[in-house]
Formats: sequence, structure tokens, C-alpha cells
Amino acid sequence: MELKQQILKILEDSRGTYINGALMAKKLYVSRNAVWKNIRQLQNEGYNITAVRNLGYCLDYSTDILTAESISPYLRAKARDFNIDVRKTVTSTNTLAKEMAIAGAPEGTVIIAAEQTEGRGRMGRSFYSPASTGLYLSIILRPTLNLDDSMLITTTAAVAVAQAIEKITNKAVQIKWVNDLFIDGKKVCGILTEASLNIEIGGLDYAVVGIGINITTKDFPEEIKEIAGSILSEKPDDKPITSVLAAEVLNNLADSMENITDRTFLSEYKKRSFLPGEEIYVLRGNNSFPAKAVDIDDRARLIVEYPDGKKEALSSGEVCIRKI
Ligand code: BTN
Repeated sequence: MELKQQILKILEDSRGTYINGALMAKKLYVSRNAVWKNIRQLQNEGYNITAVRNLGYCLDYSTDILTAESISPYLRAKARDFNIDVRKTVTSTNTLAKEMAIAGAPEGTVIIAAEQTEGRGRMGRSFYSPASTGLYLSIILRPTLNLDDSMLITTTAAVAVAQAIEKITNKAVQIKWVNDLFIDGKKVCGILTEASLNIEIGGLDYAVVGIGINITTKDFPEEIKEIAGSILSEKPDDKPITSVLAAEVLNNLADSMENITDRTFLSEYKKRSFLPGEEIYVLRGNNSFPAKAVDIDDRARLIVEYPDGKKEALSSGEVCIRKI
């Protein structure tokens, strides 16, 4: 690890407290001047580091620059086993994670970016991913699940992410089946799960779960500006929000992915789901069919009832709410 990274790690691990420059220099076997030069570099990169004679250096809580070092202090034990790769800007964390999975990257490989230039959503749509106002994260899983249970990966992730956002914002997070998260009627998060099927084993080679959360994104493109929102209006100055949120999402994923088959998350998923009871349209290609969303079953399928009384269980696909 280069010296600047080592200094950053020390400051991140003790955010909000002063670390003596001489002690830091001794610990890293370098001169005080070398420490000071690297502190200056970090300040130039946007780190809010206060330097006080006789006290040392202190990294302020308001600095929200996403790095492996900034996430690490907030990870609980299980999520520490993840192999986390943080980048400033990428095309799409899902695209990269898929390439890494094909190349043999193990379960628990995580790629996180502060910006995506080609963020992807479901149904071939794009996902607006501007720099430093959102969290864009993908995790590689290699689940030993049958195909039916594999369908639960996305729904488990939706609950894990909803709980993480709720813990950090104190705002109620609802789920629009299958995997869109809403706060106050606005979509604040989307999840895109992509998987490679292994027919011989009747399961998956890998699954990549991609999560995009709008933290403080404001100027949404015209086509989504009515529906999209962010979890906060401004970044708080008492915590590095992007890193804290990334860690909480990973903590929850680490816990919940172990227990997919016991389906305990389903009651939470149903509680948060706002489609059941709504008049909706089921969208298929260019056609849309009016229906009523009735329930979510134990395979996380949406049960809909058509005007002729016929019922159908939808495993995935698009539905939109019918305005009456
Ligand atoms: C959707 O709303 O349709 C799903 C959006 C998923 C976006 C996330 S951001 C991280 C990961 N990388 C991508 O390109 N997409 C997912």
C-alpha cells in the first residue's frame, strides 16, 4: 500500500479524532515531513483534514470520498470477508462484475463506484449514475440454490437494501415488486440481478446483484424526473454517508444471503410491498393488460387477477399502477 493510502487508512479508522503526526511517522517508518506532504495531497484531493500543532491531524466526518478505507470502519464481521474493489468511475459495476465472475472471481467480490458512465437498469434501460451523489454497487454471488430459489436473490436483496436505507435515513422504504425501492412515492433505488445459468447442475454459475441508490441526486433526466427521487435532500456533515450506506448494505447482504431458502425475509418483503391491492397494468411487449395485484406468494411472485377472474403468478416483468 502506498504511503498516502496508509495515512488515509489511519485517519479513516479514527475519524473525528486527532492523530499525532510524529506518532504516525514513527508507525509508518517515515519522516514527519513525508506525512505532512501526503496530508497536503489528501487535502488537495478534497479531504477535509484539520492540522493543529501539538495535536496532529483529524479527518472530518463530513468528507464523503468513497474508498475501501472509508467503508472498512463501518463493516461488521461477516462483511469483512467480502473482497471490495472501489473505483472512482466505471462504465457499469454490473458489467465489470460479470466480466470478473466469468474470469473466476469468487463469491463475495464487490465492485463499488462513485460514478457510472453506462449504468444499466432492467428491461434494457439505462440507470442515471452521476458522480458522488449516489451509490453504485455490484456483488458476485455463487449460490448453491435450485432455479426456483434463485429467483429469491433479488427479493432478498431488496429487503436488505430497504433496511439499510431505513436505518440510515429514518424514512420508511417501500418496495414496488419486484425490486424498486420507494420513499414518499419516488423511486430511490433500483436493483438489477444478472445471472449465468448452468443447465447441468440446474442452478447458477454466478449471479451479479447490482444496486443503485440515489443519495442526493437532483437533476434527473427528463424521462425519469417525475418518478425518481433521492434518499436525502443534502449530505449530512456528521457522517460520510456514501461509505456508511455502502457498509450497511454489505452488512445486510452478508446476513441475508446466507438465509435465502428459509424465506424469513418474505414477510418483511410483503409488509413493505405497496402493489397488492392496487389496480395495475401488466406490461408485455407493446401490450398492457389491466389487472388487480392481489398478493405476493412464497416464491415472491406477484399474484394478479384479470377482469375475467383468471389469476396469474408473475415471476418477473413489468407492471405499472393504473390511475383511476
Ligand atoms: C433498475 O432500476 O431498473 C435497476 C437499476 C440497477 C442499477 C445498478 S447501479 C449498480 C449496478 N450497475 C449497473 O449498471 N446497474 C446496477
